[in-house]
Formats: sequence, structure tokens, C-alpha cells
Amino acid sequence: MANTRLVLVGPPGAGKGTQAKVICARLGIPQISTGDMLRAAKAAGKLPQELVKQMAAGGLVPDEVVLGLVDQRVTEPDAKPGFLLDGFPRTTPQATGLDDVLAKNGVKLDLVVAIDVPKDLLVERAVLRRTDKRTGQIYHLKYNPPPASVAEADLEHRPDDQEAVVAKRIDVYEAMTAELLPFYEKRGKLKRVSGVGTVDEVTQRVLAALEITSQEGQAERA
Ligand code: AP5
Repeated sequence: MANTRLVLVGPPGAGKGTQAKVICARLGIPQISTGDMLRAAKAAGKLPQELVKQMAAGGLVPDEVVLGLVDQRVTEPDAKPGFLLDGFPRTTPQATGLDDVLAKNGVKLDLVVAIDVPKDLLVERAVLRRTDKRTGQIYHLKYNPPPASVAEADLEHRPDDQEAVVAKRIDVYEAMTAELLPFYEKRGKLKRVSGVGTVDEVTQRVLAALEITSQEGQAERA
């Protein structure tokens, strides 16, 4: 199967995590989210306080920290057939670092899909997001509310999902993609899709960008 070493790029709240879960289940590849890895490190008390503060304020953590996480993760057995990187790379040094990591393992990146969503929708999506701490399932209080069986205490409201911090994260994203997207465009690896619409509508656009047919993936798992 083609196109299984993938990157999803998009501003905060664009739906990267939501789409990544669907695409990964479909293709049988792991989702590698640097945001999730950093939050897991924080929960385990392994993230230095300085980085905890940077994340809570909406800034990026240093390139070498995330590159170290990805370098290790992509060599794990489940990532051999492919992987979907969610939220990484975010800077051109991360993108060149990723190329080096993959070259070391004798593979190349297939495609980068950027999900575009206007700013006003992003803020609403991020501020009303809640994540089930036990399962990682992402909900939205307006568009996809959690079922009554999920206790409120199990729903996480991320500290960086306060409105002012989301606005800062969007600014950081815009500054960083000014370089990152042209980097992949020049290499013929970038496809852009609109992230406006229902989750299913966006999934169809992402699958089309990945040139995955409606049967592909599903048929392989059947
Ligand atoms: P990270 O966790 O990567 O956050 P992000 O990129 O800001 O993205 P989000 O998780 O906010 O949004 P998403 O696009 O995944 O949207 P979701 O699917 O949840 O990074 C967090 C922090 O970690 C960074 O700020 C930085 O500090 C650090 N970090 C991480 N990676 C780094 C790196 N590479 N370099 C340096 N620092 C790094 O959806 C959002 C909401 O919308 C949900 O409620 C969902 O239900 C809803 N929704 C989704 N799609 C739709 C739809 N189509 N219609 C209606 N609602 C929808």
C-alpha cells in the first residue's frame, strides 16, 4: 500500500487528532502525536517544569526535544509498515531532522496533508474540546458531546485550551507554517484540504488527498 508514512499539519483545533484516529484505524498504522507524547511525559512527572510552562503558555518546546521523541518512536515495530505524525514537524529544522531520522531507517516520508480551518472556528473548536482521560477519545461540547456514561471527572480540559492561549497558539502556527508548508510544497509532498464541515466530510477529503479508495484499508482488515 502506498502513502503510509504521513504527516498531518494544521492549526490548533483543526481536527488533526480527530482525523488521525480515523485514518490510523483505517490503515492499521500508529498515530504519533508529539502533543500527546509531551502531555504523557508531563502526567508522568518527566517533563521539565520549564517545558510544562512553555506548553501551557502556547509556545513550542525546543526542536531537539520533539525530534528525540520521534526518533525513538518511529523505529518501534508497530511503525514499520507506516505511521501518521500528528503535530510534527512544526518547524523546518524539525522537518529536516525528520528526513534524517527516516533516511537513517532507509525510508522516506510519503505525504503531508495540511488541514485548513478559519480562525474563528478554531477558537470555538479548541475552547470547547474535552478529552476522555481514560481512552483519549476527543469530544466537543457543542458538536460531539460526550455520552452520559462518561463521568465529568474523566473529561480533561487542556490548560492550553483557554481562549487567550489558543489565540497565541494560532499565531505561533501561522508564523511557523510560513516556512514549513513551502518546504514541503517545493518537494511536491504537500496536499491541502479544507477542515470545514462535519468530521466525516473532512475524513473523505483527507482520504482523497492520500489517494485511499473507499475500500482500501477496510478490505485489508476484513
Ligand atoms: P498539540 O497537542 O499538537 O496541539 P495542536 O497542534 O495545537 O492541536 P490540537 O490538539 O489543539 O488540535 P487538533 O488539530 O488535534 O484538533 P482536535 O482533533 O483535537 O500540541 C500542544 C502543544 O505541545 C504545543 O502548543 C506545543 O507546546 C507542544 N508541541 C507539540 N508538538 C510540538 C512540536 N512538534 N514542536 C514543538 N512543540 C510541540 O479537534 C479539536 C476540537 O474540534 C475537538 O473538540 C473535536 O471534537 C472538534 N472537531 C474536530 N473536527 C471537527 C469538525 N469537522 N467539526 C466540528 N468539530 C470538530
